[in-house]
This record gives sequence, C-alpha cells and structure tokens, in this order.
Amino acid sequence: MSSREPIGVIGTGYVGLVTAVGFAELGSDVVCVDIDAGKVERLQRGEIPIYEPGLAELVEKNRERLTFTTDLSVALDRARLLFVAVGTPPTYSGDADLSAVHAVVNAMPASDRHALVMKSTVPVGTGEAIKRVFEEQGKSGFRYVSCPEFLKEGSAIDDFLDPDRVVIGDEGGWAGDAVTELYRPVLTPELGGSKRGELVRTDIKSAEMVKLASNAFLATKISFINEIANVCEETGADVVEVAKGMGLDDRIGSKFLKAGIGFGGSCFPKDVNALKQLAGNSGYHFQLLNAVIEVNELQKRRVIGKLQKNLGSLVGKRIALLGLAFKPETDDMREASSLVLSARLIADGAEVVGYDPIAAEEAGKLLKGVELAGSASEALAGADAVVLVTEWPEFKELDLAAVASSMRGNVFIDGRNLLDGDAARSAGLVYEGIGRGYAPQADVPAGSSL
Ligand SMILES: NC(=O)c1ccc[n+]([C@@H]2O[C@H](COP(=O)([O-])OP(=O)(O)OC[C@H]3O[C@@H](n4cnc5c(N)ncnc54)[C@H](O)[C@@H]3O)[C@@H](O)[C@H]2O)c1
Repeated sequence: MSSREPIGVIGTGYVGLVTAVGFAELGSDVVCVDIDAGKVERLQRGEIPIYEPGLAELVEKNRERLTFTTDLSVALDRARLLFVAVGTPPTYSGDADLSAVHAVVNAMPASDRHALVMKSTVPVGTGEAIKRVFEEQGKSGFRYVSCPEFLKEGSAIDDFLDPDRVVIGDEGGWAGDAVTELYRPVLTPELGGSKRGELVRTDIKSAEMVKLASNAFLATKISFINEIANVCEETGADVVEVAKGMGLDDRIGSKFLKAGIGFGGSCFPKDVNALKQLAGNSGYHFQLLNAVIEVNELQKRRVIGKLQKNLGSLVGKRIALLGLAFKPETDDMREASSLVLSARLIADGAEVVGYDPIAAEEAGKLLKGVELAGSASEALAGADAVVLVTEWPEFKELDLAAVASSMRGNVFIDGRNLLDGDAARSAGLVYEGIGRGYAPQADVPAGSSL
C-alpha cells in the first residue's frame, strides 16, 4: 500500500489518462472514471485508446495502481481529490462547451471531505460559478481547486513528470495543500522535489487565466512568425534564417518560431477563441486575438494558392497530403490543418490522397472523400503535387529522387519546412517551403544599395 494519497480522475482522454498514470507512477492509487463504457472496457483489458508515446508502457507498469470504471462512487469511496479532465470543446459561438463539466459537478454528492480539482481548460470565472452551484445544491462543503494542465500531446508523459510549472488556484485550505503535496516530487529541490517544476500557488481566477493566456500567447507567436514568413516570401528573405536570428535573443526564445501552415489541435484554436469570447462577454474587445485567428485560417489556405500557382486549375489533379494528425507523435485529428486543406482541395475539384503513420484510423472517420494510403510512397505514386502537412520524422528520410520519379507531376509544397530545399530541387522537384523567399535579385526594392 502506497503512502501517497489515492485520487480519482474523471475523464480518461489525453489529459485524464496521462494525469492518472503520472500520479500512479509517483505512487498514488488512481481510480479512473469515464462515461464511455467502451473506452473503460478497453482500458480494463489493457488497451490504450489513444496514441501517446510511452503511455502504454507506463499504464502497464502501473497496472496494480490503476482502476478503470464507469462508476463514480468507486472514486468517491476511495479518494477525496477528484481530478476533472473531461472535454471542453468549442460551441458554435466559440465559447467553451461546459456541459461535461456541469454533468460532473451535478453528479457530486454533498460532502465535507471531497474536492474537485479542475484540469480541464475552462473560462475564467468557472470555478466561482461551480462553487455557487455547489452552494445552491447544498454541497457547500465540497472544495474546489483549479489546476490547469499544460501537457503537450506527443511528449505528455515527460511534461507531466517534469513540468515547467504547476499552477494551483484555490482559496487556501486542505484541498489546495493536498494537491500541492501530490505534485511535490515534480517540483524543484527548493520545493521538496527533484525536478525543475516551479509552483505557482494563486487564486482560482488567476490560475484559470494562466492557462488561457499561455495558449493564446503561444498561438500569437505562431501567427506572428507565419506573417513574417509571408513577408519573407515577398521580399526574398528566408524565415528559417530570420527565426534563428530572432530566437537567439533570450527575450524571444526559439520555441514556437517555426513558420508553417498554421496551428491546429484540440487546444490552441479552441482556447484562443474561448479567451476572445470571454473578453468580449466581459466587455473587452481583444483585438490581437482576432488577428491571430484570422492569420491562422489564411495560412492554411495559402497552400492552395501555392498549388494553383504551380499547377493552374486543380480540377482532376491528384494531390498527396503527407501527415494528417494536427502534429507529429499523436493520432489527434482535432482541428488538424489536413481537414481544412483536404476540404478545400476537394471543393476545387482535386483528387486527394493522404497518409499518416499513426492517425490513419482517426483520419478515416473525419476526412470525407480522401483516399487513405498505407505508406508515404503509396500516397506519392502518381500524384501531381504533394503537400507535407505534418512533420513526422519519417518524412525527413524520404528518398527524394524516388519521390520525384514516382510522382506524375513534380510539385512539393513543404508546409513545415522540414526538408532540405536544395536537395529536393536537385532531385527534380519543384520545391516550395513556407517563407523561404526565393525572390530574384531584380526584386530588391528600388534605391537599395547592394
Ligand atoms: N489534449 C491536450 O493536449 C490538452 C492539454 C491541456 C489541457 N487540455 C484540456 O483538458 C481537457 C480534456 O482534454 P482531452 O484532450 O483529454 O479530452 P478528450 O476528449 O480526449 O477526453 C475527455 C474524456 O472525458 C470523458 N467524459 C466526458 N464527460 C464525462 C463525464 N461526465 N464523466 C466522466 N467522463 C466524461 C470522455 O468520454 C473522454 O474520454 C479539455 O478541457 C482540454 O482543453 C487538453
């Protein structure tokens, strides 16, 4: 029996499962609850419903400490801290849909010994609203802690076990202290741990805002470098060089300065929109975020322009998409650029074939009218053009001469600047990256001295 506090985790998606197995690895017994009975059965059989590097191994290693159930009362019996990791997808208006969160809140009994610990990303003010609901329902003894999650799909286990920071928002009292204790091992030695995680212990609203503001800032950084890339294309500068030069400045940093065809995923688009809506609902017009979102949408569509520039009409053209997941090392297709791209290409009359090393099954459910290939070479064979959408490492190893000879055409749009452009051109491909400006000398503005 472990000396660490047993916990409950409600929702066993990307965040819930990683949180559960992460705490199990740190020594807690964890009861995982989900309303999806099929998912729970798979987990009970030892099958992992999502792809996340290292997750299956860690679940297996900690099997004894993990219980999977659809029955909330098992978690309530064994644990006093109930981590909530249910989905908060966007509504049509861009607000967060909190129906799953409310379902959890309403399912809680009156109790003086339990606390909800919110890992789901929620608008600022949600904690306060939940506490009001608890009071109205005669459950004012139920504690509430905001503990937003910052893990990145693809490196989620490492992010959990060695985080940059842990943010805990509460009003003082046992629950916030108990959550802090649970995270202690992943904090800095000064905070009693052996990792580099800093603790930010704050009020609930500020904790909620840290999460939304962090994602909005990262999305802003991506849209910023994408706009720089577009200017590079007009002026002949190379955004890869520019980003390198910028990123060496400590104040800027090199992360999230990679130009490409825009951000996707289950968090950035949703959280940027949610913050914009939240600000609007509170009477503040968050102008910058409008631009961040618009730039991102246009960035995905610029690829179509690049294809048309090289191919003319897209009617009847066979276009291969390499990589379909929203980023490498995940099977998550939520808000993936491939969804927008393939829909636009099909609407323009193109024939679209896609390949992804891991996300094929998920992609098959969402990409309407897209032929799915079993390998990159199968997707490329007979294509008029290829768009590298997701920078899976295996695409870096493509034999470019073989690519050129198997295609019907020769256009290669590298949406993630993954490949060596000179090598691609030497192999006979018409290669275009994002923001790699190849403006001829004559394009140098008049009056410039060389
Ligand atoms: N995915 C990420 O990278 C990430 C990172 C940080 C924060 N977040 C936030 O964490 C939250 C969860 O995201 P996710 O990607 O893990 O979602 P997900 O869709 O993968 O998982 C949500 C799970 O909750 C379950 N669920 C829904 N209602 C339930 C209920 N009433 N009781 C029990 N289970 C219920 C669903 O069946 C599903 O298994 C979201 O708010 C998201 O914004 C996600």
